[in-house]
Amino acid sequence: MKKILVTGGCGYIGSHTIVDLIQHGFQVISVDNNSRSSQTILEGVEKITGKSIKNYRVDLCNFDDTQAIFAENPDISGVIHFAAYKAVGESVQQPLSYYNNNLSSLLNLLRCVEEYQTPYFVFSSSCTVYGNPDNIPVTEETPEKPAESPYGATKQMGERIIRDFAAISPASQFVLLRYFNPAGAHPSNLIGEYSIGRPQNLTPVITQTAIGKIPQMQVFGNDYPTRDGSCLRDFIHICDLAHAHTLALLRLIEGRSDNRCDVYNLGTGDGITVLEAIAAFERVSGRKLSYAIGPRRPGDVIAIFANRDKAERELNWKPAFGLEDIMRTAWEWEQKLRNDESFFDRKDFHLN
Ligand code: WQD
Repeated sequence: MKKILVTGGCGYIGSHTIVDLIQHGFQVISVDNNSRSSQTILEGVEKITGKSIKNYRVDLCNFDDTQAIFAENPDISGVIHFAAYKAVGESVQQPLSYYNNNLSSLLNLLRCVEEYQTPYFVFSSSCTVYGNPDNIPVTEETPEKPAESPYGATKQMGERIIRDFAAISPASQFVLLRYFNPAGAHPSNLIGEYSIGRPQNLTPVITQTAIGKIPQMQVFGNDYPTRDGSCLRDFIHICDLAHAHTLALLRLIEGRSDNRCDVYNLGTGDGITVLEAIAAFERVSGRKLSYAIGPRRPGDVIAIFANRDKAERELNWKPAFGLEDIMRTAWEWEQKLRNDESFFDRKDFHLN
């Protein structure tokens, strides 16, 4: 049974990926300093999988603490690296914090991969590497444009660091997975997206508005050159996204890749506007959402969605969930959080 180190394992994408890895026969350990997550989420993972997950509460920006994990687990076959700050708007306000956190952690991990000759490394990248694309949908060959935010720049730099390292690392193979917009929750309603403080991503803002935590949400601009004036995105269900990580590892383990570094878009291929996402939520929840049209948000890309053919062809990956499944599971999760306020003990959070 191959052991996989998942960084950010207490986070939204990390926790859902741990579930999928375990369900496909992997042993998993996590590292997460819980600065923006709660260890409690692993209780939900345990309820779904029947496995308890060891989490190293370590800051990956500390090399010695990171290296100690590899020293204690020399049998780590692969690393899936999620741990990073990921809010576009926040990164515009706090660029140094984003560059330090997202890049120092990656460099420390790669130093350990080199020292311990870890065979496989999967990197959580993002469609933000495309900037504001000239043509959509984007393929993996679509030229990068200047990132619209420091967050996007850390993903572009992360990919470049990994490509340069992969070129001189015969013992390891790498995969870059470019996420579009992850959303929704596990159908069991035992894990989902948990935001510390006010969420910044669209879907949790929608569900918190619907449940009354946010009195009225803002749509950041309706004067964009899109079919209804609001930004266009590609919302991918978190479980589809999680499964793609398992498939990416299996492709490497089964020797189906001759490349040192592969890259894949992980989006549905369906472009949805912000207003259409709100309408989908209203349909599945039966609730009218309170929103106002506000000014554009700095750093926002106008329109982007994926050509996902390469992931379908090479990873055998095909999204199983659609937009209404995303909104339905996200809404069920929000209601669960309200009904079980103790679900996340605030003491778990160690805000920096
Ligand atoms: C989506 C759209 C907002 C909140 C980023 C990263 C991406 C991924 C997801 C990590 C935008 C609009 C939002 C609100 C709004 N990161 N919006 N009102 O910026 O597309 O993508 O997060 O996995 O890599 O780039 O996501 O959900 O913040 O915004 O109108 O209260 O919703 O303006 O058009 P984004 P988002």
